[in-house]
Amino acid sequence: MTTGGVIAVHIGAGYHSPTKEGDYKRLCKVACAKGIDMLQSSASSLVTLVSVMKILEDDPLTNAGSGSNLTLHGTVECDASIMDGKGRMFGAVGALQGIKNPIEAANCLLGEQLKGKLSMGRVPPCFLVSNGARQFARDHGIKEALPGTMTTENALKSYKKYKRQLSECSVNHEAPSAKKRQEESCLLMDTVGAICLDTNGNISSAVSSGGIVLKHPGRVGHAAMFGCGCWSENVKDDKVGIACSTTGCGEQIMRTNLAQKCCQNVQAKDNPIEAVQETFTQDFKSSQLLCNDSEKLGGALLVSYDQNNAELVWAHTTESMCFGYMSTRDKSPKVKMSRLPSGSKCGESLCLGGCLFKLS
Ligand code: GLY
Repeated sequence: MTTGGVIAVHIGAGYHSPTKEGDYKRLCKVACAKGIDMLQSSASSLVTLVSVMKILEDDPLTNAGSGSNLTLHGTVECDASIMDGKGRMFGAVGALQGIKNPIEAANCLLGEQLKGKLSMGRVPPCFLVSNGARQFARDHGIKEALPGTMTTENALKSYKKYKRQLSECSVNHEAPSAKKRQEESCLLMDTVGAICLDTNGNISSAVSSGGIVLKHPGRVGHAAMFGCGCWSENVKDDKVGIACSTTGCGEQIMRTNLAQKCCQNVQAKDNPIEAVQETFTQDFKSSQLLCNDSEKLGGALLVSYDQNNAELVWAHTTESMCFGYMSTRDKSPKVKMSRLPSGSKCGESLCLGGCLFKLS
């Protein structure tokens, strides 16, 4: 099947400063334009996806790759995962240090599984963490980062600010007010992700994150977890093809299996926007699994498609979410900074929308 291709990228749901809005949008544009160039030259979904993700990881603006949030010990530990809708294979790395593009390590794990069993019939891994993940990346020739080069000035500045607040809290034995906690939880998280539908009708998705600032070393978030950070299934029989990349509070997204859940609901219903709205309302915001959490912070970018059309849906409960998209029929990428309308509440209100692409 040869159809039109689509690329969609996000640079996270969280809080995006209005003063940097132009830079965020430019980055989404550059990533989409690169993806469409590649798809127009017949690159595959996975190859295009990894190139686009590397652009997002390499930009110091994003909390992924270089520029990642720092852990409690001031180190960079990255999570990333990728899923291929054709073979439904998945590769992921968690709490990975010292590798310039974590998505390359995740993709390499995916690729190695496609080669089949290891010697003596051993099962190839789909998810590696920490030193084991780093060793795997080295053994497969994936580029290492020079010491210190993944820590940006901005990441260090935020780290110092929050570390100082943390020690003041411990000295005063004071819990921050609910309002302050809510504002800060929107500030501290974001992630990058992308979805790519190639001109042969194969879809894939990915996500990459430096996690939450001051996270415990060794903490792994949704960006590395199966069914949580990304999900992809090619169109098959009477089911639409689908892919999703999520962003927000890793722990909440993990407990609600958000990426897979959104995809299952879209496949079960006729209207993708209504299906994502229902997932966020019933399976995330009102989920019994999150009943102890006062604010629910999540975002998702999703593409569904059949032989003729594709539909993009975005949704977030955070202050803002920035994303871009383009099809091989479009002249230029579209980018959007979606912000909760005034009067709505971060962690409670839901903002969502969508758009259609003609494929044939
Ligand atoms: N959104 C980043 C994380 O929770 O890991």
